[in-house]
Amino acid sequence: MRPFFVDTLEQVLPRMNMTEQNTRGLAGVVAAETGLSFIDGAEGRLWYRGFDVHALAKHASYLESVYLLWYDALPAAIELSAFEGTLARQRALPPAVLDALRCLPADAAPMAALRTAVSALGQVDPEADDISHEADLRKAGRLVAQLPTIVATFDRFRRDLDLVDPDPELDHAANFLYMLSGTRPSETAARALDTSWLLYLEHGLNASTFTTRVVASTLADMHSAITAGISALKGPLHGGANEKAMEMLLEIGTAGSVPSFVDTALEQKQKIMGFGHRVYRTEDPRATHLRRMAEELSLEAGDSRWYDVSRRLEVEMFERKGLHCNVDFYCATVYYSLGLAIDLFTPLFAVGRTAGWAAHVMEQHMHNKLIRPRAEYTGELDRPWVPIDRR
Ligand code: SDX
Repeated sequence: MRPFFVDTLEQVLPRMNMTEQNTRGLAGVVAAETGLSFIDGAEGRLWYRGFDVHALAKHASYLESVYLLWYDALPAAIELSAFEGTLARQRALPPAVLDALRCLPADAAPMAALRTAVSALGQVDPEADDISHEADLRKAGRLVAQLPTIVATFDRFRRDLDLVDPDPELDHAANFLYMLSGTRPSETAARALDTSWLLYLEHGLNASTFTTRVVASTLADMHSAITAGISALKGPLHGGANEKAMEMLLEIGTAGSVPSFVDTALEQKQKIMGFGHRVYRTEDPRATHLRRMAEELSLEAGDSRWYDVSRRLEVEMFERKGLHCNVDFYCATVYYSLGLAIDLFTPLFAVGRTAGWAAHVMEQHMHNKLIRPRAEYTGELDRPWVPIDRR
């Protein structure tokens, strides 16, 4: 029942000097200024600090792109080497965080374990509540270095395996795969994971990044904001889609089963995971690279089954719904081809996105305005009080 106003909202709003608008899901609403990335949804283009993501995916490493995002400049060789070395020396976890991970049940969701561990990191970080730009940069570096260790450590604990210490000689992605499996990965595998993190790095005010900015806008600290970002990313409409997409491919089984699967799903009004996007109206430029990587890894493994199912599903979804796949769709096949456990897919999205979240936290802390939108009230007003003995 709509509230009875003495004046209509149209009469009241000008007096309140407010240009309120109710935009569900904030679709199309510009809620902040940023110099970090730009998305052209109509043309399917994405830039990090003015560099086209296609050029970065082709030529850059993940940490090179992180440096670009944080310092607004491509690093010289000596700068990149120093940056990589600083992060590599910070990969180990504090004992309190290891204890926190060790206490978690083996069947805990890895995204929940990651959320817990980052929160625990915030309790032992010596600069936890210092939100100066210098402290934020140092904390961001520690988080980027430590999140892969958290994911690998939790997975080793739940499999009742000895921990594998980080190897400072290995690059960011190779070291994660080494800590996870205990064996040094192939160059192809490490490059594929590194590029997936580059593609996940930064994407404007998506739900999890917006979450981190809202937290940072209260002048809360970096770890609080990143913990909140992990929480938002966990959902299947956002980062959780890469896991759901792989489960869906396994359920479909073969390319020939795609049409009937889509028939049933659409009849039941289900969302097909890995398809559609709030901003892109054409191909997600990140999917272009992930599709290529999925094909390369499948050919290398001599097993193109999941790639073939994926391609068939792409055709079906475009023909039936006019929808393109998004970043999560082929990332699923890439990670599955690397032999990664499906419930580690979204934590790996978080590993890649943490540097982007941190960049937005720093940007918000430097140019802050508390983020506080309004809601359209749809309830009643001035309801009469009724004593409890008369209810
Ligand atoms: C990420 O925002 C970002 O940038 C996110 C991200 C990043 O880098 O941070 O790019 C990462 O989260 C990618 C998205 C991962 N999520 C999924 O793949 C889940 C499946 N996708 C959908 O839930 C959906 O496409 C969203 C959530 C991604 C976008 O939803 P919108 O913009 O709110 O659009 P909508 O749900 O209102 O759908 C519009 C229409 C509807 O049809 P009608 O009811 O109007 O007839 O499109 C249909 C929807 O039914 N539709 C789908 C669909 N996505 C949209 N139908 C079937 N399957 C889908 N996947």
